[in-house]
Amino acid sequence: MDKEISKKIFLKNKILTPKYIKYYYNKKNKNIISLINNKLKFPVVIKPINEGSSVNVYICTKKNLIKNLNKLSIYNEILIEQFIPGREIQVAIMGNIKLGAIELKPKRKFYDYKAKYSVKAKTKHIIPVDLERKKMEEVLNTSLKVHKLIGCKGVTRSDFKFYKNKFYLLEINTQPGMTKLSLVPEIANFRGINFANLIEWILKDASKNR
Ligand SMILES: Nc1ncnc2c1ncn2[C@@H]1O[C@H](COP(=O)(O)OP(=O)(O)O)[C@@H](O)[C@H]1O
Ligand SMILES: [Mg+2]
Repeated sequence: MDKEISKKIFLKNKILTPKYIKYYYNKKNKNIISLINNKLKFPVVIKPINEGSSVNVYICTKKNLIKNLNKLSIYNEILIEQFIPGREIQVAIMGNIKLGAIELKPKRKFYDYKAKYSVKAKTKHIIPVDLERKKMEEVLNTSLKVHKLIGCKGVTRSDFKFYKNKFYLLEINTQPGMTKLSLVPEIANFRGINFANLIEWILKDASKNR
């Protein structure tokens, strides 16, 4: 629900996450390009601090940065993040269980709103993910660790980029999507848990006295 606080917790606990700069739209940081040049490299990704579904996420070059930032004028707090190329891998956690991972291969420029929700966008969902056993363990363990660090209960989904053999955690979703194309239900299904059973588990788990 707050991508920046989450990133601070990731960093404090030595979990790799893309470098970033905080941008306040209302203050219109005038020397933003030089700030970026000092800390990051173009392309960068801009995103609201508390959105989801890739809404208002843009990959920006030096040339189109300001134009894209202006599209985020309704938000005050914006993250400007280092763009990480490479593979997109997401992991589901269910209680204390490392449920599994899935890889997304969008046909579009990135895993944007259409790539997430439109069948026509033909994003490839790859499960099981082709990863060395050690790497698979690493990403599953990081996801469980972060689920606990943030203090999550129930089901979460962590979004990673995998580049040069390193996982970069973008965010942890505390209310992961449950649509037909959503990833937690697909990962659960792969593990033999159908949608009805998944929902039943979530409801029972949420009703527990803790
Ligand atoms: N730093 C980044 N480098 C490369 N791609 C990114 C980066 N940040 C976001 N993306 C792309 O945008 C998508 C949405 O970003 P994310 O931070 O997960 O926000 P949302 O809450 O909207 O899902 C990611 O799944 C990924 O495809
Ligand atoms: Mg995401």
